[in-house]
Amino acid sequence: MSNQRTLSIIKPDGVKKNVVGQIISRFEGAGLKVVAAKMMTLDEGLAGSFYEVHKERPFYADLVNYMTSGPVFVSVLEGVDAVKQNRDLMGATDPKEAAAGTIRADFADSIEANAVHGSDSEENAAKEVSFFFPEL
Ligand code: CMP
Repeated sequence: MSNQRTLSIIKPDGVKKNVVGQIISRFEGAGLKVVAAKMMTLDEGLAGSFYEVHKERPFYADLVNYMTSGPVFVSVLEGVDAVKQNRDLMGATDPKEAAAGTIRADFADSIEANAVHGSDSEENAAKEVSFFFPEL
């Protein structure tokens, strides 16, 4: 168990549904602390390079299109085992498979509009945090 930082994005569907506060409350309730945050609208270049790892996947163009469709809330969460804790709180990528009580089970519409993104490893967390918050 170690103190970690991880990147969280509340995606356009989460912001549109007005559940930013409810989602952040779940992070805080689990002992994670928001140490940086900003609301922004991603452009194609930013969303495309953030999801570069999925470039060859059939859903890439739709994903970039979706992530630029409205404002997102980007934050850095800090706490014990933050990467795993955040992923446990989010639930499975596809809300149809997400466990009851997880963020995606409660707030997501589809595998694409799935309410939140969270870093999937400590290594990617470091990359994603510095992508959005180079000053940290
Ligand atoms: P996220 O955790 O942000 O990482 C990549 C995103 O691609 C994922 O959440 C989904 O929203 C999106 N995506 C869209 N279609 C698929 C798919 N078929 N399989 C996995 N991810 C998908």
